[in-house]
Amino acid sequence: QLPIVVTGVSSGIGARTAEVLAGRGVPLIGIDRNAPESFDGTFVQADLSTAAGVAAAAAVVAAAAPQGIAGLANIAGVPGTAPWRTVLSVNVFGVRGLVRALAPLMAEGAAVVNLASNVAVQWRAAKDRCAQFALAEDQDAALDAVAGDAEITAESYLFSKQCVRFLTEHLAAELLPRRIRVNSVSPGPVATPILEDFKQDHGRDKVEGAGKLLGRFGEPEDIARVVDFLLRPEAAWVNGSDIRVDGGLAAYRGSVFA
Ligand code: NAI
Repeated sequence: QLPIVVTGVSSGIGARTAEVLAGRGVPLIGIDRNAPESFDGTFVQADLSTAAGVAAAAAVVAAAAPQGIAGLANIAGVPGTAPWRTVLSVNVFGVRGLVRALAPLMAEGAAVVNLASNVAVQWRAAKDRCAQFALAEDQDAALDAVAGDAEITAESYLFSKQCVRFLTEHLAAELLPRRIRVNSVSPGPVATPILEDFKQDHGRDKVEGAGKLLGRFGEPEDIARVVDFLLRPEAAWVNGSDIRVDGGLAAYRGSVFA
């Protein structure tokens, strides 16, 4: 059985996804900038915020998986309380970089799952800006080019996840001839360490109000099960799609945090 690569394995949704996959016998290669408390597989410590960090991680994965890999779950992410360059680097270029670097290792039928967010439900309105930014050849030049755009830098998390939705469709099309699927999952508020940052970024009342409305916040388990499904052969006909996993929040509000 070929391994699946999971990023963000040292906390929250990534950690739970790794447990779910390990629980059904999938060999794992985990990537995170922090070492995990426990992890059942090969762990690679890497910083996905730079092209060099992504390349270094991909090289270790290639050495650890000489037969190739069965999938990639891009779960590592940073909230909008981090500097905007970091947010856009990890959430957009980390995802794009790792998919492109690991695609040559992917067997036919492999699957990629990217963590987007339900804050990005209206992503098509930003599609052209996402295309220009997320497909730019040079990461640093792309970041410099948006430095003066307050709409992007002040809402870096939102823009980063709009770009993830864009990249998911774009990469699904790019990899279709190789029979590699690319989908995304868009969670609502999930009880992980990032939630406190979301409260600071989006407003405490809004986030806590969402939890009250839904009866609870999401658990990493709620998201991990859907990521797991998308990685399985049973999801063979699901490609270029996004699955919203938010307890009904976006449906109730029309659009979350809008
Ligand atoms: P978390 O903060 O618990 O875990 C994020 C993980 O990513 C951490 O282990 C962290 O070390 C890793 N990471 C961050 N920057 C990195 C870098 N430069 N290089 C390597 N690893 C790095 O957060 P959570 O909740 O598990 O989030 C997972 C994903 O789900 C993120 O992409 C997040 O944006 C997304 N998401 C989370 C929601 C929530 O309410 N928790 C809602 C919607 C989306």
